[in-house]
Amino acid sequence: MKPFFLFCLLICFSSGKVTANNNAPTSAPKEIEFLHWWTSKGEVAAFNLVKDALLQAGVSLLDQPIPGGGGDTAMSILQARAIAGTPPDIVQLEGPSIQSWAALGFLHELEQVAKDENWHDNLLPVAQQVNQYQQRYVAIPIAIHRLNWMWINQKVLRQYGLAVPESWDALIDVFERLKKNGVEPLALGKDQWQVALLFENLAFGYGGADYYQRAFIQMDPAVLNSDTTHEILHRFRAISRLVKPGMSHMRWDEGTQLLIEGERAFQISGDWVLGDLLASHAKVPTDIACYPAPSRHPGFIYNMDSFALFNSPRTDEMTAAVVSKTLSSPEFLKTFNRVKGALPARSDIKLNGFNSCSINAKKDMETAAKTGQMIPSIVDSMAVSPIAQQATSSEIYRYFNDETMKPDDFILHLQNIPRGE
Ligand code: GAL
Repeated sequence: MKPFFLFCLLICFSSGKVTANNNAPTSAPKEIEFLHWWTSKGEVAAFNLVKDALLQAGVSLLDQPIPGGGGDTAMSILQARAIAGTPPDIVQLEGPSIQSWAALGFLHELEQVAKDENWHDNLLPVAQQVNQYQQRYVAIPIAIHRLNWMWINQKVLRQYGLAVPESWDALIDVFERLKKNGVEPLALGKDQWQVALLFENLAFGYGGADYYQRAFIQMDPAVLNSDTTHEILHRFRAISRLVKPGMSHMRWDEGTQLLIEGERAFQISGDWVLGDLLASHAKVPTDIACYPAPSRHPGFIYNMDSFALFNSPRTDEMTAAVVSKTLSSPEFLKTFNRVKGALPARSDIKLNGFNSCSINAKKDMETAAKTGQMIPSIVDSMAVSPIAQQATSSEIYRYFNDETMKPDDFILHLQNIPRGE
């Protein structure tokens, strides 16, 4: 168990503040508190569907959005509140952190609803294990996002007679040509999570799924310390030199607005961008096109959004059952994911009415799942522990920003990051 969470456990139980699985009957809540990080146009549009669905089911939400793409800040606040013994009632969680919170006894078990609603047989394989703890469901699988997308303002490319790049070297060449014409090529904010996601796309696309898993998830020293890693870091630095002068502390969704306005030509990020494009009534893919980020082999980097109910005086078993039944229904998940730009975590939902980018994402996901090219994101909370994720993203961010940092320094620092539980 990770040191931080053990500390949290000790503090909580010593203060006697953590409510064990409180089954004491309580009156139906007037309002329960939802902690999440969905603050962009598309995210808010999608979250309002959560609010509406729960209100119809008799549960009203106190919305607690914590700005910050990727949720790092939101998760820090969650940890602080858990230590204080005042966790929110429902929380947006991702990946291995679900297991950590469940192991500490914070989460409602949802196994009965999962059985009644037949979750298991209808969930995508990647949505089964991650939402269970000790083979029982403890989180509601909501959305699967594809992270290796390249969003392109077609008008800008046409204006300069540039073709859609099909390799990272071609992308760097296009960036150079755009810069020569006074166009900032990439919508990217000075935000560790955004920069780490760009690196993840480059490492996966240039090295391939097998390399990426062995180098950055298994931390195989021979693979990490290989020519491929050096070639990737060389290209990452070339990109940093091209884009850093034009960067600001903009949020990812501010970058999406610049992409729509033609102030940036590209954005390399997950399909939450699609949610914002649709909420902004951009023409997708006519004006803003979606292409898989350049890759030697077709593949699919993913993360998943889940909702977990924390044990609190307000979320008794009845409330937990109503919430998880409502938010796991095919009807809700279809409507929600269409607006969010994501794919439903269930396999029994047809994508009629979804944008063509989502339809292509699903086709690519199915192919990638069959060919072993479906990779959990490190930097967006799916592949490693929160501590390893933060340490890896921090090193990537340092290398991007610090011209004096050598590839061998980066590799050595990564090798020293613990990957275990
Ligand atoms: C991801 C999350 C997405 C979107 C994105 C940007 O971690 O899975 O739903 O919110 O952050 O904030």
